[in-house]
Amino acid sequence: MTRHVAVTGAASGIGRALAAQLTARGDTVIGVDLAGAEVCADLSTPEGRREAADGIRERCGGVLDALVTCAGVAKPGRLMVSVNYFGTTELVTALRPELAAAEQPRVGAVGSISGTQPNDPRTVAACLAGDEAAALARADEVVALDEAQKLYPSTKAALAQWVRRTCVAPGWADAGIALNAVAPGVVLTPMSAALVDDERMLEVIRQAVPMPLNGHAAPEAVAHALGWLIAPENTHMTGQVVYVDGGAEVTLRGPEDF
Ligand code: NAI
Repeated sequence: MTRHVAVTGAASGIGRALAAQLTARGDTVIGVDLAGAEVCADLSTPEGRREAADGIRERCGGVLDALVTCAGVAKPGRLMVSVNYFGTTELVTALRPELAAAEQPRVGAVGSISGTQPNDPRTVAACLAGDEAAALARADEVVALDEAQKLYPSTKAALAQWVRRTCVAPGWADAGIALNAVAPGVVLTPMSAALVDDERMLEVIRQAVPMPLNGHAAPEAVAHALGWLIAPENTHMTGQVVYVDGGAEVTLRGPEDF
C-alpha cells in the first residue's frame, strides 16, 4: 500500500526535490508550504501549525507513515526561530499519534552544518524549553546586540538537540517511530542563491563551509538521504544528525569529534 508522507517546504528547494523523489517511488506526498502545496499553512504561528496538522490528518486518514520538515528561512529574526525550530517541533509533536498509528513510522528533520557553529545559548535554551515567547524575545536581543549571525546556528543546534532528546523519550522509539535529521552543507536552492551568486560572499562561504567532496550540493543529494531515513529500510537508526555536507563537518571539527 502507498505510504503517506508529509513534507513541509515542499514548494521549493530540498522539500520540492524530496517530494518529486517520493512521488516517483510510489509514495503519496502531502506537501505543506505557504503556497503551491496540498496544504497551505504558515508554520511560523501556532495557528498555522494547527492548520497544517489538521490538513495532513485529513489527507492521510489518521495514519501518517512519515513526516519530513524542510520548511525554513535564512533571514535572521523572529521568523527564523518560529519556522526553523517551532515549525518543526510543534508539527512533529502534534502528529505523533498519527505517526504512531503507522506500521513503520519515520520522521526526518532538516538541520544544518551551521548547527556546529557558534550560537546563542540563551536562544537554544528557550527553544528547548518550548518557550516560544522567550525565544522570540531573545531573538530580538541577539539582533540588537549585533549578533544576528548566531541565530541560524542557534535554531539548528536546538533542533538537533531536540531530535536527540525526543527520539528515545516515551512515545517515540518505543512506538516504532524513527526520528533523525540531516545537516546539509551548502545546497544550491533559492535560499542560498543570493550568497553563492555573489563572488565575494562565495569566497566567505567556501572558507566557512569547506566541501571537498563534490562541492556545493544539489537539493536532490540531500533529498536522497532524507528518503532513506524515512524509508521502511531504516529500522534501527534514530536520534542521528547525518551530515550531508561534502566533508565540511569533518574538515571543521576534525576526526576526533564524532
Ligand atoms: P528554500 O527557500 O528553497 O525552501 C524553503 C521552503 O520553506 C520554501 O518553499 C518556503 O516557502 C517554505 N517556508 C518558509 N517559511 C515557511 C512558513 N512560515 N510556513 C510554511 N513554509 C515555509 O530553502 P531550502 O534550501 O530548500 O531549505 C530547506 C531546509 O534546508 C531549511 O530548513 C534550511 O534551513 C535547510 N538548509 C539549507 C541549506 C542551503 O544551503 N540551502 C543549508 C543547510 C540547511
